[in-house]
Order: sequence, then C-alpha cells, then structure tokens
Amino acid sequence: MSTKTKLLDLMKKQDGQWLSGEGLSRQLAVSRAAIWKHIHNLRDEGYIIDSSTRKGYLLRESADRLAADEIGSGWTSGIFGAEKIIHHDVTDSTNRRAMALAAGGAPEGTLVVAETQTGGRGRRGRVWFSPAGDNIYASVILRPTIPPGQAPRITLMAAVALAEALRKQTELPARIKWPNDILISGKKIAGILTEISTDMDRVDYVVIGLGVNVNTRAADLPSDIARLATSVRIAGGRRVSRAALLRSILESIDACYAQFQVEGFSPIMDRWRRHNNVIGQRVTVDMLGTRHTGVVENVDDDGVLILRTDDGGLKRIFSGDVTRLRPE
Ligand code: BTN
Repeated sequence: MSTKTKLLDLMKKQDGQWLSGEGLSRQLAVSRAAIWKHIHNLRDEGYIIDSSTRKGYLLRESADRLAADEIGSGWTSGIFGAEKIIHHDVTDSTNRRAMALAAGGAPEGTLVVAETQTGGRGRRGRVWFSPAGDNIYASVILRPTIPPGQAPRITLMAAVALAEALRKQTELPARIKWPNDILISGKKIAGILTEISTDMDRVDYVVIGLGVNVNTRAADLPSDIARLATSVRIAGGRRVSRAALLRSILESIDACYAQFQVEGFSPIMDRWRRHNNVIGQRVTVDMLGTRHTGVVENVDDDGVLILRTDDGGLKRIFSGDVTRLRPE
C-alpha cells in the first residue's frame, strides 16, 4: 500500500476527528513535509481536507473517483481486488487498455477504470459518450476455460450481473434488452462491449467493457442520444457514489462468474430471461443492411434470439439492434 493510500485510510478511520501532522509522520514513518505533499496531491484529486497548524488535518469529504482508494483499499471480492485496479484520469478506451494488458499476461480480475475516455467504443463501431467524472467506464479481464463459440455467454452473464447490481444499489427497475443493453423505463442506462482473443479451440481472454451512465444530468446528454438514454441520477433523482456502485457491480460479476463455473450457464440464462424485456414482444431487428419484424419467441442458451417473423418462419439471429414496436 502506498503512503498516500495509508494516509487516506487513517483519515477515513478518524471519522471527522483531526489528526496531527506529527502523529501522522510518526505512524507513516515519513517527514511532515512528505505528509503535506500527499495532502496537497489528495486535494488535487478532489478530496476536501481542512488543515490547521494547531490541530493537523481533517478529511471533510472524499473525492468522487473510481480509483482503488475509493473502491476500497484492501477490498477484495473473489477474482477482484484493490491491488488489481488500474485507474486512469484520462485514457482512450478502457477496453483498448485492458486488451493490451491481457495480451501482455495480466491476470483474471484485472480492472481498468477511467474518469473519462477520449475514444470510448460502443457496439458496432459506435462512439461511447464518456464525459469526465460523471459515469463509470470500466473493463474487466476474464480468462474463462470455454470454447470460442460460448464467448457470448460471458456478455449475457455480465448483463445479468450489471442489471442486478443496478437494481440492488439504486432500486431502479433495470431490464435487459437483447443482447446486452441495460434499460430503465425503455431508456438505455448502461451498455456492455465484450472483446475476445481466442486460440484454436479455447478462449484466451475476454474483456468486458462496462459503460454506466451514473451522474450525468439530462441537460448534459448530447441531443442525438437524449431521447434514448438515461442515467441513475436522471431516473432516480439524486447523485450516487460511482465507487460504491462499481464495487457492487464487481461483486455481482464475481458471484455470477463463480456460479457459471460451478453450475454451468443454465441458471444464469434463467436470470437473464427474468430480467429481459424482449421475449414475447413484437420487435424489429436491424442487422447490417437487413431488417426483420416479428415476435421474439425466446433467447436460447447461446444467447441467440429466436424470432417468429411475420411470414411465419423462425429466424435465429446472432447479432443486431432490437426495437420494441410497443415501447415500455
Ligand atoms: C454499447 O454500445 O452499448 C456498449 C458500450 C460499452 C462502453 C464501455 S465504456 C468502458 C469500455 N471502454 C470502451 O471503450 N467501451 C466500453
């Protein structure tokens, strides 16, 4: 643990009480000048810290950041842990960073997070709106022992984990739109972009990229997505701690992944079906260049959408954009 993290931990434990500079320098075995430098850096990161020559230092308010210090120094949950969190203030894309780290051998459970992305990637080559400090941009590395054909299961599993964490943490009625959009009252609150690297007969690694609109306000949404998107703050009417929400999402992914490994995919898919908002609905599905209209009969255990088309045929659809014809 770095001196800065230890200092922050001590101040958090103090719970509103002052800590003397001398006491801190003794406990952390560094000079008082070094303590002052760390306090200065913490303030730059957004922590509100009072200082007094007589009383020392007092942490008034933690910063709303996604760094390991806020997710929880010393925090672990199965494959995840504070030691495996890589935080960027700015990066091009956390997925891109995580793919590069995974290619270099980074272990399962490595998490890349950013306060903002300059090249956030969405599905089907779209751009992911990534303003600074408001939302969650996170990518998780997994190394499941599955054949490449089963990789879509990881995305469906992530959608279950994300929807359940959002429900638990915010009490908002999160639903899953096939394949992996998370909606609140028909508007998108989160998206998942999974990228994989495979050997001939097995998956080498998977990166699950999670974009969650958390504290963005309606007025901040670009006009082209304002009609279709929402955030926890817009839907729930209040700001929430991004770090607490991310912790809950990671714990949820960890629990789903453990269940997937022990019991197989079937129980996860049952949960996916419970949370979905497309089965039984009349929809159009846009696939690059073609459009099908019909009723969704099911989503099978490989995540394939089974559509009863208007001409009575059954279509198996592997990827596309679904629009419900009767909105929620
Ligand atoms: C979608 O199109 O619905 C998927 C969006 C996924 C966005 C996230 S943000 C964190 C991670 N890094 C990226 O570049 N994309 C994903």
